[in-house]
Amino acid sequence: ESHHAVFGHPIAHSLSPRIHARFGRQTGVALRFEAIDATPDTFASALDAFAAAGGSGASVTLPLKEAALALCADASDRARRAGAVNTLVRDGGHWRGDNTDGVGLVRDLTGRHGLDLRQRRTLLLGAGGAAHGVAPALIDAGIGDLFIVNRTSARADALVDKLGLPKHVHSRYLEDLAALGEFDLVINATSAARAPAAGEAGSGLPTLPTSLVGARTACVDLSYGEVAIPFLAWARAAGAHHAIDGVGMLVEQAAEAFKLWHGIRPYTDEAYAALRERDA
Ligand code: ATR
Repeated sequence: ESHHAVFGHPIAHSLSPRIHARFGRQTGVALRFEAIDATPDTFASALDAFAAAGGSGASVTLPLKEAALALCADASDRARRAGAVNTLVRDGGHWRGDNTDGVGLVRDLTGRHGLDLRQRRTLLLGAGGAAHGVAPALIDAGIGDLFIVNRTSARADALVDKLGLPKHVHSRYLEDLAALGEFDLVINATSAARAPAAGEAGSGLPTLPTSLVGARTACVDLSYGEVAIPFLAWARAAGAHHAIDGVGMLVEQAAEAFKLWHGIRPYTDEAYAALRERDA
């Protein structure tokens, strides 16, 4: 039996233990998968303790993905490009980091939802960890021009610089959204609709003009559950053709992680359907 965990904070409601238990049953891989609460301050020692107890692979979620990269002896090219790690593999007494979020999103959009991403004029809202994680994979999937818009414009500029394709990747101000015209793909990678931390001002989705959306636009929120509701409601009201939450991406990134750990990629339709049923 191999020993796995997901690290994050908060972590109690993580769906990863259920997804991986299902993948294990389906593929006949014996595994134990637990959820471990860790903050950026406690993560390094929690991960050491997990390794000492025989842990051989871990998923990493908010707010630890950048910290995870720093704890790796070695990291994949896509993890370095994202500046973040969501999958840790124990290798010769060290952690090797990878990032399956971007490919997970692309597989969900192209496979499950049947979208052809090639040449899609794309708007990415946000320039934090989640946006860094998915932007390289979207570019690799052949999207058209990519516009990155963030409340703090310097972070959008920094992400554009990092992606290194000045002819195809542009930053714009949030206030100028109405001038950008229509997009084929609009992705919400902000945490604006997440519950504000105690003591913080109430946050909320910035005002988005409906002119961003046309009859064939796909709108995607990288989160799921209640957090995804405001953006997806806006997308439907604006007339989007697709309004897609992050459940499929969650399942697909987990399947990619499972393959890194166990060498088999599980089928994801069952896990996806089970999570949808739970939603309904
Ligand atoms: P994550 O890992 O989820 O991306 P993050 O790195 O903290 O978390 O990034 C959060 C993103 O949501 C950032 O792009 C942030 O904008 P800033 O860079 O200006 O902070 C964005 N965000 C959070 N709350 C927001 C709000 N109320 N309105 C607009 N953008 C918001």
